Amino acid sequence: MKNFRISIYWKLFFTILLFILLTSVIIGMLYTGFAPLTEIHTQTKKSLINQTKALTEQITFALENTPSSLEDIIKDLHVKEDADIMIIDTAGNELVSFIEKGLKKTTGDHSQTIESALIQGWDIQKIYYRWELTPIVSVPLKKNNVVIGIVQSYYPRTRNLQGVLPRGATTLISVIILGGLISLLSRYLTRPVRELTKIAREMTKGRFGLKVPIRSHDEVGQLAETFNNMSQSLEDLHNSRRELFADISHEIRSPLARILSDAEILIDRKMDEDERNQHLQAICADVKNLDRLIADLSILSRLELNQVEMSFSRSKIADIISNAASLFILRTKENNINLKQTVGKNLPEVMIDARRIGQVMSNLLTNAIRYTPEGGTIEIGAKQRGQSIEVWVKDNGQGIPEEKLPHIFKRFYRTDKSRSRSTGGTGLGLAIARQFVRAHGGKISAESKLGEGARIFFTLPVSV
Ligand SMILES: Nc1ncnc2c1ncn2[C@@H]1O[C@H](COP(=O)(O)OP(=O)(O)OP(=O)(O)O)[C@@H](O)[C@H]1O
Ligand SMILES: [Mg+2]
Repeated sequence: MKNFRISIYWKLFFTILLFILLTSVIIGMLYTGFAPLTEIHTQTKKSLINQTKALTEQITFALENTPSSLEDIIKDLHVKEDADIMIIDTAGNELVSFIEKGLKKTTGDHSQTIESALIQGWDIQKIYYRWELTPIVSVPLKKNNVVIGIVQSYYPRTRNLQGVLPRGATTLISVIILGGLISLLSRYLTRPVRELTKIAREMTKGRFGLKVPIRSHDEVGQLAETFNNMSQSLEDLHNSRRELFADISHEIRSPLARILSDAEILIDRKMDEDERNQHLQAICADVKNLDRLIADLSILSRLELNQVEMSFSRSKIADIISNAASLFILRTKENNINLKQTVGKNLPEVMIDARRIGQVMSNLLTNAIRYTPEGGTIEIGAKQRGQSIEVWVKDNGQGIPEEKLPHIFKRFYRTDKSRSRSTGGTGLGLAIARQFVRAHGGKISAESKLGEGARIFFTLPVSV
């Protein structure tokens, strides 16, 4: 259940479903609220007809007993009784009308109304005026018992027609509720994105490593997780860059300080030729070390940025190994070290940059000689392992403590920092070797037991 993912798809699905359901409910409510308005209550109908009949009798009375014109009578009723009346003749032509502005029915055909008014004595029509149902009651107008036309009386604002909340109010309340719900939902859905934006802004100011809370396991949750990983990587990168600068300045400072002190001694003190040469040689050694450090750093940074061009060619690993070994014969002899080669027979060729792989072997052999006492043995060998050739350099020197093994390929890492000055190592050799091996699509590792020597080995894919 923990890993159950509700994807945005489903969120949207349910949102739309909910939306449709709510809309239907609202439409339903509107419809039911609207229903009484389409029908005029029988009681109301009767009362409206009676009202109109009473009005008509008033008009008939005035026509028969006063000298006032039809127009004056209707005007009088409109002003005094607030009645909205139109008189049409039996052919449907308008004779007189005093009706509130805008209320008047615009459709011209009265024939049905007239017919029904004449036959049953009344007729009711419905029009909508300002969103409300307005009944129009038509009854025949008689003078001296002769029909002279039809009285049409309009009844706007007939409040008792509607039994429920006015339509406008229902709509407004529904829209407010729906709007609120949608707004809440949208806020809920966009919250992680807003959080991401906030943290991303902080990161542009250089504050790395900040995390966004992971609130879901959907696509947005995955994005948040990826974002957090990115933030962590950026922080690591930031820290490693800082450490690198600190390491570099430290590595450069020490030889520079020694050079300065040697130079000052040379200037300040009177000394014989021998002593003078000693100081000059020390200066030369430090300058050489600095030069090598800068060269190493330069190749390492270019390797990390994939900017070192490689020239691959089909090569026999046995040749590369014997070449590398021949370069170290003198040094091993000097240290009374036995250098062995164990190369498997009929090894397939590899596609490599022979010069770079030679450099890797040089780095490994330099280390092996450096950490192997006189009379020791160094073995350099190769064998096939599946689709790769494994190459190794093994010594029986002091070895590497187990807990330090995972670190030896890091830049500037030395198991024993105090030895660096006498041995001249800066801890870049294995880092460079690792990058070269990686550039060939291989892997480099180390195995060792303290006091029993070390074996550093790397793989190279067999050329196809
Ligand atoms: N064969 C080995 N035996 C024992 N320790 C080793 C061996 N090879 C490497 N190490 C340890 O691993 C560390 C890192 O090796 P690496 O070659 O990167 O640096 P370095 O030899 O000290 O300096 P550089 O190679 O830059 O001159 C060494 O300082 C050493 O402590
Ligand atoms: Mg080294």
